[in-house]
Amino acid sequence: MKAYIPTGDPAEPVALTDVPEPTPGANEALVKVEAFSVNRGETFKLEAPVAGERPGKDIAGLVVQPAADGSGPAGITRVVGHPMAGGWAEYVAVPTDALAVLPDGVSAIRGAALPLAGLTALRLLRTAGPVVGRRVLLTGASGGVGHYVTELAAAAGAEVTAVTRDAERGARLAELGAAQIVHDVADARGPYDIVLESTGGPSLPLALARLARRGTLIWFGQAGRTPATLDFFDFFAGPESAVIRHFHYLDADTSLAEDLAALVRLTAGGRLHPEIGRVADWADTATTLTDLRDRHIRGKAVLTLS
Ligand SMILES: NC(=O)c1ccc[n+]([C@@H]2O[C@H](COP(=O)([O-])OP(=O)(O)OC[C@H]3O[C@@H](n4cnc5c(N)ncnc54)[C@H](OP(=O)(O)O)[C@@H]3O)[C@@H](O)[C@H]2O)c1
Repeated sequence: MKAYIPTGDPAEPVALTDVPEPTPGANEALVKVEAFSVNRGETFKLEAPVAGERPGKDIAGLVVQPAADGSGPAGITRVVGHPMAGGWAEYVAVPTDALAVLPDGVSAIRGAALPLAGLTALRLLRTAGPVVGRRVLLTGASGGVGHYVTELAAAAGAEVTAVTRDAERGARLAELGAAQIVHDVADARGPYDIVLESTGGPSLPLALARLARRGTLIWFGQAGRTPATLDFFDFFAGPESAVIRHFHYLDADTSLAEDLAALVRLTAGGRLHPEIGRVADWADTATTLTDLRDRHIRGKAVLTLS
């Protein structure tokens, strides 16, 4: 079968090649991939590829061989899945505890846009705790995660301030329920009960200073690649005391399957709208990855296989 492998070349980070079809483990279903999405974190990983590891974590397609242990879908079924690797391929083996059934109303393209970014948004908000009536500041809001966080938080009653590069990148976030769009963290007025920070560099200390007393900053990424510098004394420009909480989306008490099913249910019910800035044939995967890395894509990017 055909699959993408990393090249280590930043100009063309993946190449299509022939690889053996996967041999599923007992708890894995074999899925024929119809669409996959790519994520910023995956573009970072491609800079230092691990020998033998094939990329690809977000897929939607058809189960063509159910899991041997009887778990997961029993027959040919449309699914969305979150394998830990190997998804940018014609076929991928997916553990059934990382699969959810896709109803007819959710296309493979929208399904493929859900896993990593949607799971991150769902679990970030659970980590934040109840948001009804709370003020939330979200940096990196125009990306895959940011659109999901904004829609889910606003629907749950939060007053969301979204930070985006410009007005064009914020327009859809306003439609999804953001109360304010600002183009620089310094312009966010606050104080905020919760800050969700994923750009790093100078953003993090600026966002921290906008927390309310005993508020929480959840630190979940560094899209700008520049580490943040925190000065203990600068902190006194902000809240008297606050929490900085590191976050990784795989540290959760719920299974991937149940959270994927929740994302699918919300999407099918018209309560979650995957924001997809690029849909292309999978022949364009390398270009799509460099465009995502270089900030030319708003929201999610999805590749389709015919
Ligand atoms: N901790 C976890 O478990 C976890 C899970 C998933 C993702 N993440 C991280 O969360 C972040 C968002 O992920 P994503 O998939 O939504 O990425 P994405 O779609 O690429 O979105 C990235 C966002 O960050 C902004 N951004 C990019 N480069 C920037 C820079 N140099 N300076 C300031 N802003 C910049 C982008 O703004 P523009 O529109 O202006 O480019 C965009 O809003 C990434 O850092 C990712 O690595 C963490």
